[in-house]
Amino acid sequence: MRKVCLIRHGHPAFPLGAHVCLGRTDTPLGPLGRMQAVTLAEALRGESFDTVFSSPLVRCRETAAPLGKGPRLVDALAEQDMGPWDGLDFSEIRARWPELYARRASEPLLVPPGAEPLAEVQRRVIPALERCVRESEGDIAVVAHASVIQALLADIERIPLEESRPLRPPYTGCVFLAWNGGFSPEVHSFSPCAPLTPTLAEKLLRAAAPGERVEAHCRAVAKEALRIARALPSTLDEKLLHAAALLHDAARGEAQHAACGAAWLRELGYGPAAALVERHHDWESGPLDEAAVLFLADKLIREDERVGLEARFAESESRCTTAEARAAHARRLKAARELKNRIDTACGYEVVV
Ligand SMILES: [Fe+2]
Repeated sequence: MRKVCLIRHGHPAFPLGAHVCLGRTDTPLGPLGRMQAVTLAEALRGESFDTVFSSPLVRCRETAAPLGKGPRLVDALAEQDMGPWDGLDFSEIRARWPELYARRASEPLLVPPGAEPLAEVQRRVIPALERCVRESEGDIAVVAHASVIQALLADIERIPLEESRPLRPPYTGCVFLAWNGGFSPEVHSFSPCAPLTPTLAEKLLRAAAPGERVEAHCRAVAKEALRIARALPSTLDEKLLHAAALLHDAARGEAQHAACGAAWLRELGYGPAAALVERHHDWESGPLDEAAVLFLADKLIREDERVGLEARFAESESRCTTAEARAAHARRLKAARELKNRIDTACGYEVVV
């Protein structure tokens, strides 16, 4: 019996929480999607796929890339063509096609004129998947889209298309099917999650690609955080601290970068690391834990160099252009100085220089 793993691509390059009607519009993965692709490959490391097939759209090709085999592109696995709605945000669709949009509540298969109905998607993707199986040997992975996987599973599980929407997997969700001359209707589905080790965090940082300077800064902060943690008399979770420090500025290019980076990590299933990343910029008080150490380490490193608290804060003050920013800056400096004193006292010597 052969295994067929259907995989939905990762999060495309639009903000977390945005609702975009993405059909044939060829949007690449965003930083979160690229990190999801890395986690997916890590979670599927125990599988050995003879062939990886992919929709030709770039978000699927990028998701397939870390699986290790150059994917074979199958045009018939492309996403449903959404016609005039394709690539638009749903808030715009609602404003421009209010009646059609409202009917979607009771008519789940409704598409605008010029779009491809889901029944037609189903007619092209079933033979396409069967061809993938016939033209390969052993286990295979197929990276495709929500509507494509929905249409395939509706057929395999004999569920009417009208009721098939819950079959759409989340981003990088996997569905394993068995092939024995036909597809077995018993499916096993899961969202990939691999333990967050420092090695994986390094791969995730490179996938997020905040830029070489930011990446070098993250590595220097991780080194400094570990140095402080090892000097403390209490035992901290070094693996967690190391991974979170490597990822603390993964979202540096985004607005509210600490909250954004934390949201990405939560989306990936890394809640404890997310909690540290969320507080790395603006820690105010609390125990001498991993969050405190990450905050302080970040405040000692400029670019990839340890410059110390006062020099780091003097430099960042020059970038504060509003009274509000200056007040926040002063608050962070006060918190950092107090934390330095607490850590030095706990260690019995000046650890933070
Ligand atoms: Fe930083």
